[in-house]
Amino acid sequence: MAGARALFFFFLLFLLAFAFINASSAIPRKTAKIYELKKGDFSVNITNWGATILSVILPDSKGNLADVALGYQGIGPYINGTTNFGALVGRVANRIAGARFVLNGTAYRLIANDGKNTLHGGHRGFGRVFWTVKEIVDGEFPYITLYYFSPDHEEGFPGDLDVYVTYKLSGAYELRVTMRAMPRTKSSPVNLAQHTYWNLGGHSSGSILSHTVKIFASQITPTDDHLIPTGSITPVAGTPFDFLTPKTVGSRINDVKGHGYDINYVVNGHGMRRVAIVKERRSGRRMELWANQPGVQFYTGNFLDHVKGKGGAVYEKYDGLCLETQGFPDSVNHPQFPSQIVNPGEVYKHDMLFRFSF
Ligand SMILES: *[C@@H]1O[C@H](CO)[C@@H](O)[C@H](O)[C@H]1NC(C)=O
Ligand SMILES: *[C@@H]1O[C@H](CO)[C@@H](O)[C@H](O)[C@H]1NC(C)=O
Ligand SMILES: *[C@@H]1O[C@H](CO)[C@@H](O)[C@H](O)[C@H]1NC(C)=O
Repeated sequence: MAGARALFFFFLLFLLAFAFINASSAIPRKTAKIYELKKGDFSVNITNWGATILSVILPDSKGNLADVALGYQGIGPYINGTTNFGALVGRVANRIAGARFVLNGTAYRLIANDGKNTLHGGHRGFGRVFWTVKEIVDGEFPYITLYYFSPDHEEGFPGDLDVYVTYKLSGAYELRVTMRAMPRTKSSPVNLAQHTYWNLGGHSSGSILSHTVKIFASQITPTDDHLIPTGSITPVAGTPFDFLTPKTVGSRINDVKGHGYDINYVVNGHGMRRVAIVKERRSGRRMELWANQPGVQFYTGNFLDHVKGKGGAVYEKYDGLCLETQGFPDSVNHPQFPSQIVNPGEVYKHDMLFRFSF
């Protein structure tokens, strides 16, 4: 009797051990996957690598579909790519001068990955890590929510941080991007940005210099030669930066010092409001961007140089434009800029809305 009981006990132990081994081998290894959000003939592909937008398929006025987001072929090139195509960048997008800042009396040293400065969060940033898919929902308004945990000291930043981004097809030809971040124990600067390069003529259609742009901003934060804000805020009126009345990207680009537009605009007004309108004449496509952030980086793909892209495309300078809504660059080192410091118990909230028409 006792022998049978012992045998049963060992059998139970064996079962438990087997179940445990099975469960641990069932823990998914981190691999990059592609998730498609689709609403009629509008579709957006997302990957958990960098919470990246891989493609945005959109019709034109004749019903012809095109992919209007620049990208690499497959996921592989995203691993070491330096363009940030479609990526969700952070913990602090844009540049931090000297890769350092002081917060609450503590000096923080960051990873310098852009000369002496930190760009888009450092070597890896949030755009070159695996995110976890929390939710993917089909239906009339399909969406995906991705999550990233950024530990204390990652790239030098203070404190554990929980980060969420949701991409949602929230209406006809409408893409909503909702970013949230919550520090657990320490105050930290947070500034996330969506880094898609747009070309409304199609990602492989060449230059964006003939796109018409309107930017709802009367001021910019000028920079030095290393693209670090000088700290001043100056009017765009009478300068090549004036896009208050719509004009083509190329109309005054040669008057901009450096290689093209790569500048933070101070978006007029507060809260969720219109930031920019982009139009492409041949296709008739139009993109309207709304956001709740203080600034937007207007970047004209100045550093694209023979980049091998999707479907055999080769991207050159000015083949895509970015409108990255954000806090002001290097705000941690400029007390006169709106603060990007988020304290434990507070929630960083960044909302974007892209409305496409044709
Ligand atoms: C988007 O992803 C789906 C599913 O993986 C795939 O079938 C489709 O071809 C992708 N679209 C583009 C434009 O890459
Ligand atoms: C990325 O770069 C690393 C280091 O140079 C290299 O080992 C790796 O193979 C590269 N990965 C891809 C996908 O190119
Ligand atoms: C840290 O500094 C920020 C910004 O000045 C302030 O709001 C916050 O209360 C400080 N946090 C702590 C823990 O002292």
